[in-house]
Amino acid sequence: MKDQDCAELLQWIAPRLRLRPEGFRRVRGQVCKRIGRRLVALGLTSVSAYRTRLESDPEEWAVLDALCRVTVSRFYRDARVFEVLHEELLPPLLESSPVLRVWSAGCASGEEPYTVSILFRLGLAPRYPEAGLELIATEVDAGLLERARRGCYPRGSLRELPPAWVERAFPGPGEEPCLAPGYREGLVFRREDLRTHMPQGPFQLVLCRNVAFTYFAPPLQREVLAGLVERLAPGGLLVIGAEESLPEGGVALERVAGPLPIFRVPRVPATTGG
Ligand SMILES: C[S@@+](CC[C@H](N)C(=O)[O-])C[C@H]1O[C@@H](n2cnc3c(N)ncnc32)[C@H](O)[C@@H]1O
Repeated sequence: MKDQDCAELLQWIAPRLRLRPEGFRRVRGQVCKRIGRRLVALGLTSVSAYRTRLESDPEEWAVLDALCRVTVSRFYRDARVFEVLHEELLPPLLESSPVLRVWSAGCASGEEPYTVSILFRLGLAPRYPEAGLELIATEVDAGLLERARRGCYPRGSLRELPPAWVERAFPGPGEEPCLAPGYREGLVFRREDLRTHMPQGPFQLVLCRNVAFTYFAPPLQREVLAGLVERLAPGGLLVIGAEESLPEGGVALERVAGPLPIFRVPRVPATTGG
């Protein structure tokens, strides 16, 4: 499939999936390759034939939706964010609430929620032995959730995690060590589409990184943001991706760690901008 044809197809499909074509700027080659392979598998020779197929086959939209998903993740991604959470932002939350409730939205194969679990158990629990952790991780892709539940990872995805934590949390040998059982406690994985479902709050910490605020269309971004804020406890923290920003005209939140993408929900009701 020609690059131009794919770009036009993405412009046409994105709003129908409530996505934002610009979100695919960096990953367009990868997504276009997948769509190209899909055309071959269906025996179609042109983008217009695929559009005709989409117009008459509602089930093909679910296939296409999955082809558009970018699923890259790794442990301790954006290390500075986790350092600041560990050293500065989570301790006061633990002092005011004995149980830290956390939601990881779009959790891929579990790298992000397990990072929080490792950070909590090895970084915070020694200082707050009475504290508990409840973690909900949601993801739309069933295959990724299966890998998350398995909890075994190539060493490359652990490379940013502090080495002493890797040794404790992944004690096994080999190129794909598995997470030790203690780090799975209190963690629930759930298959949910963030566009239509969200778990029940309140949460002290929500991580919604490299999904809604990159790929979703702006009106949906504002809807998702309102839903996240609604589920955050007063004073709770929202973390988004390092390259992301909150949608214009959505709920206005205060940044709490300089340029890092960490926001705090006010203790008084939030105001809407725009
Ligand atoms: C790029 S990964 C980011 C993973 C992790 N949050 C991080 O930042 O490392 C985006 C994840 O969001 C998931 N995702 C995409 N659309 C979703 C949706 N509508 N609902 C829930 N998860 C979704 C993808 O399947 C993928 O696993």
